[in-house]
Amino acid sequence: MSALDAPTIALVGAGSMGGALVRGWIEAVRKGGGLTLTVVEPNFDPELERELETVGAVLNPPEPGPVEVLVLAVKPQAFADAAQQARKFVGPQTCVLSIMAGVTMDALTRALGAERVVRAMPNLPSRIGRGVTAYAASPACSEQDRQLVEQLLEPLGAVEPLAAERLMDAVTAVSGSGPAYVFLLAEVLAVAAEQEGLDRDTAMRLASRTVAGAGALMLETGETPGALRKQVMSPGGTTEAALDILAAADGLAPLLRRAVAAAAKRSRDLGKG
Ligand SMILES: NC(=O)c1ccc[n+]([C@@H]2O[C@H](COP(=O)([O-])OP(=O)(O)OC[C@H]3O[C@@H](n4cnc5c(N)ncnc54)[C@H](OP(=O)(O)O)[C@@H]3O)[C@@H](O)[C@H]2O)c1
Repeated sequence: MSALDAPTIALVGAGSMGGALVRGWIEAVRKGGGLTLTVVEPNFDPELERELETVGAVLNPPEPGPVEVLVLAVKPQAFADAAQQARKFVGPQTCVLSIMAGVTMDALTRALGAERVVRAMPNLPSRIGRGVTAYAASPACSEQDRQLVEQLLEPLGAVEPLAAERLMDAVTAVSGSGPAYVFLLAEVLAVAAEQEGLDRDTAMRLASRTVAGAGALMLETGETPGALRKQVMSPGGTTEAALDILAAADGLAPLLRRAVAAAAKRSRDLGKG
C-alpha cells in the first residue's frame, strides 16, 4: 500500500475484515505514511493490539473527536449500537466508508449525520488480501475522497469503482456471494471424482487444488477465462466431452444466470426491508 497523505482515520470494528484493513494501514504507517489511526473494538486480537500500539494508534478512546475518514467494519446487526459511538468521530469534514453488507448510503447518512458516504462490498478472500472490493460514493464525495478510499481499501485486494449505489445488488450477487459458488464447484467436483473411483481425501485435494490453481493462473497470466479454457481442450478430447455438457444450452450458463438473478433479487428485497 502506498503512503497516505496524513489523514486521520477511525476504524470501528477490527474483526476479520476490519483487522485485514488495519494491518495494511499499519504497513503504510511503517513505510512513512503519516496517517493517524484510532480503533474502536471491544475484543482486540492481542497481536493486532500490540502492532497498533507500536505505531502509536489510539485504541478505544473515551472521548472521540472528528476524523477525516470514519471506517465502519462491524456486522450490520451491530450497526445501530456502534453508531452511537461512531457518530462522535463525525464532523463537517468527515468522509464515512462502510463495508457493512446491505447498509445503504441513506441509512449511513441518517445514523451518522454525514453527507460524504462511501459504501463498499468486499468478499471473503479479502481476509488474505486476495479479494475484490467494489464501492459506490455519494454525490457529495470529492475525487480526493474516492482516491483516499481506494487507497484505504487496497489491503483487501483489488478495488472496483461503481457508477451508482444500485449496482451494489449485482456486486453482492457476483463477487460478494461468488466465493460460495466456487466453493460449491470444488465440493461437487470432489463428489464426482469419488464417483469415478478416487478416495474422498484425494478427490477433495484434487478438486480444491484445481479450483485454486485455475484461479491463480487466470490472475497471473491476465488471459481471459475463455482463452485459458481453450488451452485445456483438444478436438475430440476428454475436456470437450465434459464441456459438451457444461456449455450446452441447458448447462452451467442458464443455471448460474438464475442463481445470480436470485441473489441480486434477494439483495434488492433486503435493501427495501
Ligand atoms: N466476512 C466477509 O466475507 C464479508 C464480506 C463482505 C462484507 N462483509 C462485511 O464486513 C463487516 C465485518 O465483517 P467481519 O466478517 O469482519 O465481522 P467480524 O469478524 O465479526 O468483525 C466485526 C468486529 O466488530 C466488533 N464490534 C461489535 N460491536 C462493536 C461496536 N459497537 N463497536 C466497535 N466494534 C464492535 C466485533 O467485536 P465482537 O466480536 O466482540 O462482537 C468484531 O470484532 C460486516 O458488516 C460484513 O457485512 C464481510
